[in-house]
Amino acid sequence: MEEYLNYYKNKRIIVTGGAGAIGSNLIRKLLEIEAFVIVVDDLSSGYKWNLPQNSPNMLFIQGDISDDIILKRLFNEKPDLVFHLAAFFANQNSVDYPEKDLTTNGFGTLKLLEYSAIYGKLERFVYASSGCSIYPSNAEMPYKEELTNMYMTTPYQITKMLGELYCNYYYKIQKVPTVKARFFNSFGPGEVPGQYRNVIPNFIYWSKLGLPLPITGTGEETRDFTFVGDIVDGLIRMGYFESAIGEEMNLAAGREVKIKDLANLVLKLTENKAGIKFLPRRNWDAKARMLASNDKAKSLINFSADPNFAECLNLAIKWFDENWDQIEKSADFPPGTSSAVRGK
Ligand SMILES: NC(=O)c1ccc[n+]([C@@H]2O[C@H](COP(=O)([O-])OP(=O)(O)OC[C@H]3O[C@@H](n4cnc5c(N)ncnc54)[C@H](O)[C@@H]3O)[C@@H](O)[C@H]2O)c1
Repeated sequence: MEEYLNYYKNKRIIVTGGAGAIGSNLIRKLLEIEAFVIVVDDLSSGYKWNLPQNSPNMLFIQGDISDDIILKRLFNEKPDLVFHLAAFFANQNSVDYPEKDLTTNGFGTLKLLEYSAIYGKLERFVYASSGCSIYPSNAEMPYKEELTNMYMTTPYQITKMLGELYCNYYYKIQKVPTVKARFFNSFGPGEVPGQYRNVIPNFIYWSKLGLPLPITGTGEETRDFTFVGDIVDGLIRMGYFESAIGEEMNLAAGREVKIKDLANLVLKLTENKAGIKFLPRRNWDAKARMLASNDKAKSLINFSADPNFAECLNLAIKWFDENWDQIEKSADFPPGTSSAVRGK
């Protein structure tokens, strides 16, 4: 086993938001490399069935990351590292419920960092930030880490940035060894579709139901879709390499995919003939293109991303096939959504 993976053997690790799309993948990997994982999740957008079942090396605590009783319980477990992934997800949800967004992403992150500072023994605190959120919409591409933005278009973007600012304060002043991971459009096994979820799980879901794929915009928009396995590897590297401490890094594939091309690929891979349906762009969605530089993560933690987009997409589709009954029960859409997608 490589050195950075070997480091995790017998480490005690808190994963917040572990029942979520990325957290569940991170936990599987941590268990594989023989860490002991303490999962905290309030199951507001995560699912217990998405977690490994009956592992003797995983403790699941259901609760809110801003609740002192839960936080005391977590830190009584004497963790070595924290991966903080719990969040009120994501843009549209925060536009609909801005206060809930602040409570979890702002106040929750602050409390977790405050407990980490008082505890004083963490080897690393890795924070899940969002590259898609915090860079300005008119920035030159590829996005580089030094770009800053004072004009966000959703509360979620503001609170993901707030989390980074808290990480900086707790690192510089309180000596918590924080690292900020800026994810770009994660996709892959483990993400259940829903009204507030990303485009890829929703496209796969609609396509498997034989429905047309709704594109909010022209389809010429691009995103830097990053396979969840690569994001997990980046997080694990960030927890290990000393060079990561105090830094922020994009975890991105470094590749632009047009939404129209994505839709066509999903239609092809799922053998759906229903085509594409165009809907108006959402008013907060100010980014026509998105492409990130992953040079910094390459040089500091030797990060690399899988170049084969279609193969990774197929892994997500396979996960849908294997878990369809659970996914269908859990998919979180308001009543009438499938008729709207169908155009009735
Ligand atoms: N998925 C992406 O493309 C993406 C992109 C950029 C950043 N991120 C960030 O990565 C992290 C993980 O994203 P994800 O896609 O796995 O999201 P997710 O919604 O699947 O997972 C978040 C988890 O946090 C839990 N949670 C929410 N509020 C909580 C609270 N108050 N206390 C405890 N648990 C709570 C949810 O139940 C869920 O299981 C988030 O911080 C998100 O902001 C994700």
